[in-house]
Amino acid sequence: MLPNYELKCVKCGYFMEADPWNILCSKCGGLLEPVIVKKPLGVSWPLFRARKFSVWRYKELLPKVRSPVTMGEGGTPLIRLGDDLWLKFEGVNPTGSFKDRGMTVAISLARERGAKNVICASTGNTAASMAAYASRAGLRSFVVLPRGKVARGKLAQAILHGAVIIEVDGPFDVALDAVMMAAGREIGLYPLNSFNPWRLEGQKTLAYEIADELGVPDWIVLPIGNAGNISAIWKGFTELKNFGLINRLPKLAGIQAAGAAPIAKAFKDGRDMPYFTDQPETLATAIRIGRPVNWPKAFKALRESRGVTEVVTDEEISEAHRSLGRMGIGVEPASAASFAGYLKLKGAEIGDDEKVVLIATGHALKDPDAIPHVETVRVSGAEEVASALRRMIL
Ligand code: F0G
Repeated sequence: MLPNYELKCVKCGYFMEADPWNILCSKCGGLLEPVIVKKPLGVSWPLFRARKFSVWRYKELLPKVRSPVTMGEGGTPLIRLGDDLWLKFEGVNPTGSFKDRGMTVAISLARERGAKNVICASTGNTAASMAAYASRAGLRSFVVLPRGKVARGKLAQAILHGAVIIEVDGPFDVALDAVMMAAGREIGLYPLNSFNPWRLEGQKTLAYEIADELGVPDWIVLPIGNAGNISAIWKGFTELKNFGLINRLPKLAGIQAAGAAPIAKAFKDGRDMPYFTDQPETLATAIRIGRPVNWPKAFKALRESRGVTEVVTDEEISEAHRSLGRMGIGVEPASAASFAGYLKLKGAEIGDDEKVVLIATGHALKDPDAIPHVETVRVSGAEEVASALRRMIL
């Protein structure tokens, strides 16, 4: 039982005990939200800032664990791209994506509560992160992946960190169905997908860090896949406001790829439910998802923040991927979707004088095959290299 927390079902309002093994509502199967019952004593920015800039800087606002499984996740740089434009580079987390924020919290809880095995469905990053944290925690990890649709770097990480790899035919959504069916306390198999609200508790620190370093921007722009991160970030900002640590909230802009845009298209159309699809398609394989499980939380976040959604084509993603690269910032395609979406929204929904933070969720090295091949200069011998360079420069 976690002190100062209770779990509330976002669908039927039922309250459950704050136990890491309580993951979905026992009454209606709905998503649960951990609620911090009362503001912990002494919580303030000076208290936080006396600690290392990282997920655990905010430990009073996170589930209490005796010995966290940690590798210094979080504390990522906010890189200035323009006068009022910033990019939070999550690619520098220990396994190269924002997932590490959630894993440090959820894996710590799972180990303390006796789990010996952990599982996730993944488009790649969750698998890489879970495999790494599980091996540090001494847990066995199982990853269920959409066959042939996981970027090379991510698959390599899952292998390197010793996960058992199960591949399914069909998209991520089929892999997630399998995990929801297989996981459970009875067999001691702990699920680490974002329907697990304890993982999202770690991810909410993205909001804390932005508010801590920059204050509250007008907009947070981020890609939506399974819609966990947008839900987590919104929870982070609303908690800070409820606890008097900030006095306003940002608006959220959620970006999806045209071939996998169940939430972005529906929200644009003013609907209150996604257009689910069984055949999502995009080169941004991280967000190749047709039935995002956290959609009720994401719609709530978008509505409450008076936010917007945008749909970007694979061409627009590639273009944004390249332009960020030319600014020295190497992200994977899903993360470039933030920038592509921002470029489309700027001047319309996003005002020219508004302060914007883009979330760059994963590192370029995750997906080397998404980087276009170019002709290299082929010469043999030092002499020839020198003369080729003289030709190019002079
Ligand atoms: N960006 C990257 C690089 C991701 O890996 C993901 C999700 C997202 C954005 C979307 O975040 O699902 O919280 O809306 N990747 C998951 C995975 C699905 O399995 O690694 P979301």
